[in-house]
Amino acid sequence: MTPRKDDHDCVAQQVRAARHLIVFTGAGVSAESGIPTFRDTSGLWERFPPEEFACWNGLVKTALFHPARFVEFLLAVLEPIAVAAPNPAHCAIAELQHRCRTTVITQNVDGLHQEAGSKSVREVHGTFLQVADGKGRVARNLTRDDLRHVVEQLHRVHDGSMPLLRLPGALKGLVNLLRPMERPRVVLFGEAMAEPDWTFAQDDARDCDLMLVVGTAGLVYPAAALPRWAKQAGAEIVVVDPVEPFAADQWLEGRAGDVLPRLVDHLR
Ligand code: OAD
Repeated sequence: MTPRKDDHDCVAQQVRAARHLIVFTGAGVSAESGIPTFRDTSGLWERFPPEEFACWNGLVKTALFHPARFVEFLLAVLEPIAVAAPNPAHCAIAELQHRCRTTVITQNVDGLHQEAGSKSVREVHGTFLQVADGKGRVARNLTRDDLRHVVEQLHRVHDGSMPLLRLPGALKGLVNLLRPMERPRVVLFGEAMAEPDWTFAQDDARDCDLMLVVGTAGLVYPAAALPRWAKQAGAEIVVVDPVEPFAADQWLEGRAGDVLPRLVDHLR
């Protein structure tokens, strides 16, 4: 079904009347903060094939056999997040929470919704701002300054001024890469979703009456099923994206940083 297009007044009215609004976000919402998306041209998976870099086994193999490439990948992922700040889209989403009951569900691992002021964000793919112990439990929270320190150490390995073997020592206190084995609390391909956020997100999706789907290609399951579950439970689905969606009731075409502040203006 072709979605109705660019009716900001209508969507603003639906937001005003919503009993429970969900904003479900993907990489596109952070693109204007300088964090590359995954599947657009020049996206992360163009430069680093997901078979090698998106799953634990592939990453371990790359670290062992191609350490320089491994460090390049870590820098490509971490550096933009370490220096990022919320953009007008994150701020508009935080503002929505003051207008009606709003739950933010994100696939992003950059912590920018919380930094913009959104509360109780469901991070279904985890976050780089937490470290997990061997059992996947939160071992430690990190700040963006901590991430910048990690990036500095990775640059030292990358430019040859520190051997890779000294990295665990340089990151001591932030993430223990040796024993006990810790890692960033992010979900890779083939791994279980981050809990309890995923359980809450599924309940929220079935409870909402309006879902704004912002900046996601909707290709990675199970997260991509959330809009369908919301629709089956009776919700209206509104997509904000420069690219026409496969399935939606309405489409607000454009960049999230332009469209969402306009939507908030319509609510005033
Ligand atoms: P993708 O890179 O697959 O899709 C990004 C979406 O954002 C596309 O629909 C773009 O058109 C849109 N977009 C680009 N710039 C935008 C902007 N300024 N404003 C609004 N939309 C914009 O990213 P995701 O769908 O988030 O998971 O990817 C889902 C998952 O795949 C990620 O969480 C990650 C990845 O593999 C794991 O690694 C487990």
